[in-house]
Amino acid sequence: MARKFFVGGNWKCNGTTEEVKKIVTTLNEAEVPSHDVVEVVVSPPFVFLTLVKSLLRSDFHVAAQNCWVRKGGAFTGEVSAEMLVNLGIPWVIIGHSERRALLNESNEFVGDKVAYALSQGLKVIACIGETLEQRESGSTMAVVAAQTKAIADKVTNWDNVVLAYEPVWAIGTGKVATPAQAQEVHCELREWLNQNVGADIAASVRIIYGGSVNGANCKELAGQPDVDGFLVGGASLKPEFVDIIKSAT
Ligand code: G3H
Repeated sequence: MARKFFVGGNWKCNGTTEEVKKIVTTLNEAEVPSHDVVEVVVSPPFVFLTLVKSLLRSDFHVAAQNCWVRKGGAFTGEVSAEMLVNLGIPWVIIGHSERRALLNESNEFVGDKVAYALSQGLKVIACIGETLEQRESGSTMAVVAAQTKAIADKVTNWDNVVLAYEPVWAIGTGKVATPAQAQEVHCELREWLNQNVGADIAASVRIIYGGSVNGANCKELAGQPDVDGFLVGGASLKPEFVDIIKSAT
């Protein structure tokens, strides 16, 4: 099954109302391949989600950057999956390495979050990836497999899951993985899915790469057979995000 190219823009904790409007204007005016060719999802901070949704072109969609692990209630500061659904937000990013590292989100917690968000009808960009120390000790695949297993243990239907492989050492560092490094992990991860989840799911799940992707390096990365798109941080706040979308073709 052909996997549609996917480009996500994770704006992280950035932006003012005026800056957000400027980014949206750039995206709205961009000439990019059609929705049949590339799926584009941008992820502003919670406070800008409805603004961006109301202004953004209809062929692009929005994602939240997180949601609570179960039904809402007495969880001060959290935002529930139900609230996102109520606002018409179709996507959510879960398990970003910044949350895993800074907020101690464990593999199991991330797996629970993914499962709950899916159960409420959200589509999920689930993030995985190894630290530099883990890569240098040769445990990249073991780490990525354990992170994916924690999701696979809780999820049966993968139709609405995109896996984002984001090596921590490449995030925000300017040290992008080489196309060969990205392809190697994506290919091994797809084989892990094949062995542990199922051949159909392995063939159809999109595995996107994140970590210092920019307008200059995206084309070569996009040419790798198992790289199905990108999750872009810093460059998603800049006009070059349009070039990254165009790397789909
Ligand atoms: O979610 C996006 C990743 O953390 C990549 O961020 O493109 O700024 O390295 P970056």
